[in-house]
Amino acid sequence: MNAETTGRKRILTGDRPTGPLHLGHYVGSLQNRVALQKEYETFIIVADVQTLSTNFDHPEHLPVDVRQVTLDNLSAGLDPDIVNIFIQSMVPQIAELTVFFSMFITVNRLRHNPTIKTEAGQYGFEENMTYGFLGYPVSQAADILFCRADLVPVGEDQLPVVEVSRFTARRFNELYGKVFPEPEGLKSETARLVGLDGQAKMSKSLGNCIYLHDSTEEVRKKLMSAVTDPARIHKDDPGHPQICTIFSYHRAFNRGELPDIEERCRKGTIGCVACKTRMLQVIENILEPVRERRIQFDKPGRVDEILKKGTEAACFEGSRTMQLVREAMHTDYFD
Ligand code: TRP
Ligand code: SF4
Repeated sequence: MNAETTGRKRILTGDRPTGPLHLGHYVGSLQNRVALQKEYETFIIVADVQTLSTNFDHPEHLPVDVRQVTLDNLSAGLDPDIVNIFIQSMVPQIAELTVFFSMFITVNRLRHNPTIKTEAGQYGFEENMTYGFLGYPVSQAADILFCRADLVPVGEDQLPVVEVSRFTARRFNELYGKVFPEPEGLKSETARLVGLDGQAKMSKSLGNCIYLHDSTEEVRKKLMSAVTDPARIHKDDPGHPQICTIFSYHRAFNRGELPDIEERCRKGTIGCVACKTRMLQVIENILEPVRERRIQFDKPGRVDEILKKGTEAACFEGSRTMQLVREAMHTDYFD
């Protein structure tokens, strides 16, 4: 079934397979994917080629990481009967589109992209970056446009990259005729989650994450050693919730109790251990069903079967799009 027959709009989003997904991914994008999967026809990309834009020297991690990120998505609540989860490098139409798009996207547009700039800084690529790294937003435009997606739920840091896809769709349509919808980025309510150490972002490389696969005991340990307001030495010291990591988690996961916790922290009538214990319960309410689903999907062959089916559906959509693209670009020579 496709958008024409179901009348539903399409979502395309996904992840680089670089390791396990954490609560930052959950609030940034996974939660929206799960909430919208029935309303939108959904394609989830496991972006293995994009991983190589920084990790080209370690392709040996891909087989494990591709399956792990797929299992994380399934555990988060995506239903493989209605969602297509697929592997980027196995959809050749994405590579084809990347080449066509790269003819009209300028190098300056990529160089000045805020996400590229930030990430180049993180990886130390400012002086010397590969063609593939600089061009990953073009390849990501192909990820999004190969299935003519309408909506792209992503974390805040990815919005400038989605902007390149919007420009690509617009420019293609102007140059060759209307083929693509202009995809919209969808930022979640909590676009970014701070790390357990108080750093701006939960990130695997910073080692400050709660992973979707963490056990109750691991989550408990991590929360108990998380950074809070340093002014709260004694249980009844008045606190400053606005600077506390745990409070920002209450804001992300426990809105209902937020005013109460804020007041009690300020007055010094709740201790940090009690506040963290409450957070543990809230996170456990999310992770418990995630763990149960993981057990269901983590059976021999099951993840591969889901990826194969999703990749087939993606290739089917890709070939339909390429037909339209080739007609528009006068490259449908033998029809
Ligand atoms: N760039 C995204 C990330 O780093 C992953 C990704 C690849 C993606 N292709 C995409 C996200 C297309 C949304 C749409 O997490
Ligand atoms: Fe943070 Fe809660 Fe302690 Fe206040 S009581 S400082 S919000 S952990």
